[in-house]
Amino acid sequence: MSAVVNLLQIAQLRGGYSDVDIIHGIDLAVAPGEIVTIAGTNGAGKSTVVKALLGLLPRVSGTVLLNGRDITRLSAEDRFDAGLAYVPQVANVFPSLTVRENLLVVRGVPNVRRRMDEVLVDFPALVERLPQSAGDLSGGERQQLAFARALMPSPRIMVLDEPTAALAPSLVGKVFDMVRKLPASGVAVLMVEQRARQALQISHQGYILDQGRCVLQGQAQALLGDERMAQLYLGNH
Ligand SMILES: Nc1ncnc2c1ncn2[C@@H]1O[C@H](COP(=O)(O)OP(=O)(O)O)[C@@H](O)[C@H]1O
Ligand SMILES: [Mg+2]
Repeated sequence: MSAVVNLLQIAQLRGGYSDVDIIHGIDLAVAPGEIVTIAGTNGAGKSTVVKALLGLLPRVSGTVLLNGRDITRLSAEDRFDAGLAYVPQVANVFPSLTVRENLLVVRGVPNVRRRMDEVLVDFPALVERLPQSAGDLSGGERQQLAFARALMPSPRIMVLDEPTAALAPSLVGKVFDMVRKLPASGVAVLMVEQRARQALQISHQGYILDQGRCVLQGQAQALLGDERMAQLYLGNH
């Protein structure tokens, strides 16, 4: 018997920041090569799920498996080393460092200069900016740098928290294009997005959260046509 091993498997994740539970038993899976979206209104608990699976939530129970390995009790650093990359909602680059320094300081990257050149192939706009301070980048370039940084250690999966939130509307499509290309380079994606429709359009699976619970889940295409989506979540961007 050969069971399919999901790349990421989360079971009965619950917890919060104090003694009050914010998330109440989340089950979620990401298969290799998949893009999976978590959507839901503001305050639904999306970022809290992300923090819990990354080892950044003060109090948590449940299980997190990465490629079949139980990482539930690992520190955030050890999860990173196991192949879980994270692009936070804000503060995802060091503004006072140059673009080059931002890429070279990522920990745990063997042959870091060669790896930087490999990663930059997909981000040509950053090549011209290498000596500049990351704080001087435009919003779109900054997001490219955040993605490039996350890719430096060759992660198995990238966790993105609202990658389009801080961007001008004209740049949103470009970010979704970057996300869509990740599986081709062997990186699966778990993405939190307020722009549910656009995110689901490039996703394989989707999960809709409300008040710390998953209230709807399924294949992204099916969710897009599901009338319960409109009732639960008015993400008609
Ligand atoms: N650092 C924190 N300390 C205490 N409560 C928090 C913290 N971060 C978020 N919360 C609370 O947890 C709930 C879910 O927040 P969050 O996971 O950030 O939602 P979302 O990302 O879906 O907008 C909200 O009620 C929020 O106020
Ligand atoms: Mg959030």
